[in-house]
Amino acid sequence: MSIKPVVVGVDGSESALRAVRWAAMEAAARKIPLRIVHACMPVDGRSPSPMPPSMADTVVAAGRQWLTIAADVAKETWDDVSTELVREYEVDALIRGSQDAQLMVLGARGHGGFAELLIGSVAVAVSARGHCPVVVVQGADVDRTGKPIVVGVDGSPASEGAIAFAFDEASRRDVPLVAVHTWSDPVTASAFAMAPFAVDWYEVRTEEEQLLAERVAGWQEKYPNVRVQRVVTHDHPARTLIDQARNAQLVVVGSRGRGPVAGMLLGSTSQALLHHAPCPVAVVRPDEP
Ligand SMILES: Nc1ncnc2c1ncn2[C@@H]1O[C@H](COP(=O)(O)OP(=O)(O)OP(=O)(O)O)[C@@H](O)[C@H]1O
Ligand SMILES: [Mg+2]
Repeated sequence: MSIKPVVVGVDGSESALRAVRWAAMEAAARKIPLRIVHACMPVDGRSPSPMPPSMADTVVAAGRQWLTIAADVAKETWDDVSTELVREYEVDALIRGSQDAQLMVLGARGHGGFAELLIGSVAVAVSARGHCPVVVVQGADVDRTGKPIVVGVDGSPASEGAIAFAFDEASRRDVPLVAVHTWSDPVTASAFAMAPFAVDWYEVRTEEEQLLAERVAGWQEKYPNVRVQRVVTHDHPARTLIDQARNAQLVVVGSRGRGPVAGMLLGSTSQALLHHAPCPVAVVRPDEP
């Protein structure tokens, strides 16, 4: 069976090139191939009718050039690099491509959208529906070598996948892992604000600390070389995770947590991280390592 590669999507943007640099470092660390993909559907933007041939040729030629530039950048770090131009809509192509990938890597922004947008629609859609873990390269500096990895733990099946992924990355990179668990419930919190002595916060905190310790224990046994720092706060998870991510090289979250809206593909914490994290974000689905 052939080795599944790291796949990175490019669209000619600076953000995608940052993703290529990150993906090349990751492929080198895993010692696996890196595949660089550009998807283009040479149809007119307003209707599904084909573009005039000369226009379609220009679009495809630009795509090929972006792939060549990206491959040159990747080869500065890793030599097992291939490129592929796929004639398909980008979200479809990348989600399909994620079936045969160990990891899918994307820039936070691309060529489209408006300047103030923090994350583009392709990055959001693929993070929500990809078949493998998806890393969105947020933040200006890609090389954060030596800094810790942060993982969000809430006891949900997706966060189990996130813990597994985070331990594996921390072990490979030989860096500490910061395991974050927060507890908050805005409704009960406001109710108890009216009667602050009705709840034993010390007991709640102890229980939450225990939950985190239990979730991490099995993985710590499997990866004894990874130094784990446990952080438990009474706060919104996204706020603590973003705080911790300021000094991290990667923040890992499950695609969705224990939140009440069952149909949502991305939970509010994962969405907040994708928009606001100061470093690359890995989104892991429930059944993924
Ligand atoms: N055509 C494409 N082929 C391959 N990868 C792509 C393509 N378009 C986007 N990507 C990947 O997705 C990342 C995010 O781009 P995205 O398109 O989501 O942002 P945007 O162009 O700023 O916003 P939008 O397209 O929603 O207006 C890019 O950095 C790149 O990694
Ligand atoms: Mg785009």
